Amino acid sequence: MTAPGPTFDVVDLIRVKRDGGRLPDAAIDWLISAYARGQVPDEQMAAFAMAVVWRGMAPDELSRWTAAMVASGRRLDLGGLGRPTVDKHSTGGVGDKVSLVLVPLVAACGAAVPQLSGRGLGHTGGTLDKMEAIPGWRATLPLGRMRDLLAEVGGVICAASDDLAPADRRLYALRDVTGTVESIPLIASSIMSKTIAEGTSALVLDVKVGSGAFMTDRSRARELARAMVGLGTAGGVRTVALLTAMDTPLGRTAGNALEVAEAVETLRGGGPADVRAVTVALAREMLALVGLDGCDPAAALDDGRAYDGWRRMVAAQDGDPDASLPVARHVETLTAPTGGLVRRVEARAVGVAAWQLGAGRGRQQDAVSAAAGVRLLAVEGDRVPAGAPLAELHADDPVRLARATRTLAAAFEIGAAPPVGSTGPDRVLERITSAEE
Ligand code: URA
Repeated sequence: MTAPGPTFDVVDLIRVKRDGGRLPDAAIDWLISAYARGQVPDEQMAAFAMAVVWRGMAPDELSRWTAAMVASGRRLDLGGLGRPTVDKHSTGGVGDKVSLVLVPLVAACGAAVPQLSGRGLGHTGGTLDKMEAIPGWRATLPLGRMRDLLAEVGGVICAASDDLAPADRRLYALRDVTGTVESIPLIASSIMSKTIAEGTSALVLDVKVGSGAFMTDRSRARELARAMVGLGTAGGVRTVALLTAMDTPLGRTAGNALEVAEAVETLRGGGPADVRAVTVALAREMLALVGLDGCDPAAALDDGRAYDGWRRMVAAQDGDPDASLPVARHVETLTAPTGGLVRRVEARAVGVAAWQLGAGRGRQQDAVSAAAGVRLLAVEGDRVPAGAPLAELHADDPVRLARATRTLAAAFEIGAAPPVGSTGPDRVLERITSAEE
């Protein structure tokens, strides 16, 4: 099958972008469609992506590019559920277990939350990897069953099917191996094409900023958030973004089963203050977007409604909410080399240590260990004597412990002066809404 419309010379399109020009709409539609169908080779698309890294895209060009990525596959219709649809997407951070709490929480307030997730790559964990630590839980769901669960339970976390934005699937894999991930238009279109295709009517973006995030710089994070909010709005999805701090891990755990346990504590009204605060802030935004702001998410955590929703959600996908979570065969403790105040626990190093312990994957096809990860026993602002326990390292494979211990030791800065750059538990730095508001 050939791509629709006129056929373009890909070398001409690469030259236009290389020289800072704007592609005509018909050329964008053709390029994305032809690439998704395997009619444009990877080397040409890689050259085009590199030209975008250097030259960027005009706002209307980016909207068209994103719409073409959505049109490369199926766009789900989630109308008629009897509940308004709203989702959250995070750009990824260390210890970010928010989705596990947020999906049943917002569902308990009356919304339908279709969270179609992916698996993690590198030092930030993926939501599906975390959920798969629950014995029996299955990530794949036929569309009909997903709709039924959204109507009945209100929340679904499952794997996105291959026919949602297939052009992005191919392009993201290519960008990953050609040094072309770090481009605001390419990141924004990649994330938003998948989210628009999943069929939600409203969306809250959690754009993480800091050493453990994709965007280490606040002004770049703001630019990404603005681009994504613009694309969502243009695609008919009411979209708001929060910029949240990710210099230090969220909560006290990084690793699949360890994070599930912490999410469950939060669902039961406890858990770390920062996990609860970020979750409640995002829930308030989601509920406001769909007119359900009469529901107080903090109350739904405290009175058991969110936890009930979690149990139903897990059981609906064959998980056992009462089963014990996997436990690592080897646990070692990192201790403080000197006494003093914990001035910093650097997010990226904690994420890399968890990954080295087996919690994350280096390549898309690798398996992950459900039990591996890091539990922080001291966090920023704590005063510790020399020799005090700072963190536990959990691994199934003891060979992994030595390197991860060195990485984790470097994450801690202990000194006499108070913590540097601490943002407090709520972590919300900025709120970005569409320009028309
Ligand atoms: N996540 C995505 O889905 N795409 C990107 O380009 C970056 C992060």
